[in-house]
Amino acid sequence: PYPVYEELRSIHPICWGNMMKNPGWYVTGYNEAMMILKDTRFQNRIPLPQTSKKYECLKNIQHDMMLFKNQPDHKRLRFLVSNVFTPKKVEYLRPFIHDTVNDLLHQFQQQKSIDVVSDFAFPLASLIIAKIIGVPQEERYQFRKWSADLIQTIDFTRSRQALDNGNAMTIILRDYFKGLIKKRKNSPEEDLISLLIKEEQQGDRLTDEEVIATCILLVIAGHETTVNLISNSIVLLLKHPKQLMELKEKPFLIEGAVEEILRFESPTQMTARIASEDITINQTTMKKGDQVYILLGAANHDPNKFQDPHLFDIMRYPNPHLAFGYGSHFCLGAQLARLEAQIAINSLLAWKDNLKLAAPDLQWRKLIGFRSLSELHITFD
Ligand code: HEM
Repeated sequence: PYPVYEELRSIHPICWGNMMKNPGWYVTGYNEAMMILKDTRFQNRIPLPQTSKKYECLKNIQHDMMLFKNQPDHKRLRFLVSNVFTPKKVEYLRPFIHDTVNDLLHQFQQQKSIDVVSDFAFPLASLIIAKIIGVPQEERYQFRKWSADLIQTIDFTRSRQALDNGNAMTIILRDYFKGLIKKRKNSPEEDLISLLIKEEQQGDRLTDEEVIATCILLVIAGHETTVNLISNSIVLLLKHPKQLMELKEKPFLIEGAVEEILRFESPTQMTARIASEDITINQTTMKKGDQVYILLGAANHDPNKFQDPHLFDIMRYPNPHLAFGYGSHFCLGAQLARLEAQIAINSLLAWKDNLKLAAPDLQWRKLIGFRSLSELHITFD
């Protein structure tokens, strides 16, 4: 996507376009992206046709997701959920993430190759998000289908078929989580569902519909993107062997390395807003009702912000990338995603020598909003 971003930016950092029949303002400039993301006059909306009755379930669920809420509803929902998603609670998962990674690697002991996407990143992200939410382990294998179908409903490339699948999947998930909520109401456990049901803050609590929507949001937001971050990390490091060796020798460099991977191949490439009034930024007036597409992957390669933006450098500092967004909707799972990626990468590098890409050509999925490999085969000694 990067040459396209460059081309757009050379016209203007906020430029009118009509990508895949989506007319709107395309934002490639870092400063402009940041200004728009922190300006609540640019609102989040459900990315579905206004009139369609056919996708009622999908629409209702998305309506209750914090991602598509604006103030003051967003503040309320985010407050109630973030309370059970604190850095302390994430840190508490560290030993579980370590054990999960080690168990997975142990399974490949006799192998000479793996598909990083389906054998490693996917089971890891599924196991962790399933544990957090409180989905029984044996059901976690369904996560891939769930999240793969759901992610297509929010990507630009969505077709009628994708929306049909997404709506059908949402009905299954809604009923599934409804059942789980009922179970947890009777016998609470140490999981997010139980906490979300029970937690009352300042006299307020989530409705069952909001708990369901939150769980489904976490399945989409917390799964697909993390799989992509881990897979993209392995590609980038294998393509930069000197930096891979350096990281192998100095594992403490991992925090900076993950930030650079997030910047360089941002798993979420794009997010969208709608102007709620006429707004002028950098001499561009966006009219009330205009769609605004913020290309995070482009902002993260803006030469006005990052020196040599197309240079991958795990020592880059500071690295104020926008891979997790910015402002009130800043990713709630950022700390968790970082921790998972840091442990996964360091453990994989320490596990075997001579990791190599099995084939030079990479299979990127045909999504516009996400930087996502369909498979990534690697070999090792
Ligand atoms: C929001 C990226 C992992 C939960 C966001 C946004 C971005 C993002 C860009 C902001 C969207 C916007 O402003 O329109 C990522 C990336 C991840 C990741 C790149 C992994 C590498 C996770 C994980 C979770 C999560 C692991 C939870 C388990 C959320 C939630 C929101 C969100 C709940 C909505 C926050 C709000 O609307 O206030 N994420 N995310 N994300 N993310 Fe993530």
